[in-house]
Amino acid sequence: MKLLFIGDVVGSPGRDMLKEYLPRIKEKYKPHITIVNGENSAGGRGITEKIYREFLEWGAQAVTLGNHAWDNRDIFEFIESAKNLVRPANFPKGTPGEGLKYVRFNQLEVAIINLQGRTFMPPLDDPFEKAEELVEEARRRTPIIFVDFHAEATSEKQALSWFLDGRVSAVIGTHTHVQTADNRILPGGTGYLSDVGMTGPYDGILGMEREAVIHRFLTSLPTRFEVPKEGRTVLSAAILDIDEKSGSCKKIDRILINEDNPFFH
Ligand SMILES: [Fe+2]
Repeated sequence: MKLLFIGDVVGSPGRDMLKEYLPRIKEKYKPHITIVNGENSAGGRGITEKIYREFLEWGAQAVTLGNHAWDNRDIFEFIESAKNLVRPANFPKGTPGEGLKYVRFNQLEVAIINLQGRTFMPPLDDPFEKAEELVEEARRRTPIIFVDFHAEATSEKQALSWFLDGRVSAVIGTHTHVQTADNRILPGGTGYLSDVGMTGPYDGILGMEREAVIHRFLTSLPTRFEVPKEGRTVLSAAILDIDEKSGSCKKIDRILINEDNPFFH
């Protein structure tokens, strides 16, 4: 089976890019399951119910989140009823929502786990311990397990992938918004990519207006970052081929669409 994962959709430029290219990507790669990271999809901060529903309408089967999950307060109104929305699993007990969800395609089930790193990020519960617990739980139902690891440090991402090698189909990093070129399959059969990259403004800084970001570096003063409304855009994704019986990753390729890397069918 083929699984498509679209990296962090940032604001309306990211949503427009997804709407425009998702049908074309689907036509070319024919994925059975599409997962979108949507933690920056509402103006760069969080997600709304309307956006979540649009992602599903446009062809996603699940939406993952990250450290910005709670930035738009709309989330608290709909997260409990949003059965295809996955938030980082290692938030403390009692946090709304869940970090492990299942989606179906034909007779198969795909487990989707979202975890957040702790290196250079807020101190959450241990993502490794949580991964161990959830992977064990998921493997009782299905060998096809996808992990979106929302983390800053490449070392932490690599460590989790080796820790889970042979037990999950893929560990793909999100959060840093720059696609890395290290897609590979680990010896145990786990597909890995340190960061899938972002979908949104191409000429900003990590998807935000660059003037404000530069201003913060120059002055160290608090500055509000906004998503640029105009300009060139990028879409970052990964396409995986997963063995349905064993759950092993057979192939993992990167997808990058921008003016420097135009889309070809
Ligand atoms: Fe993030």
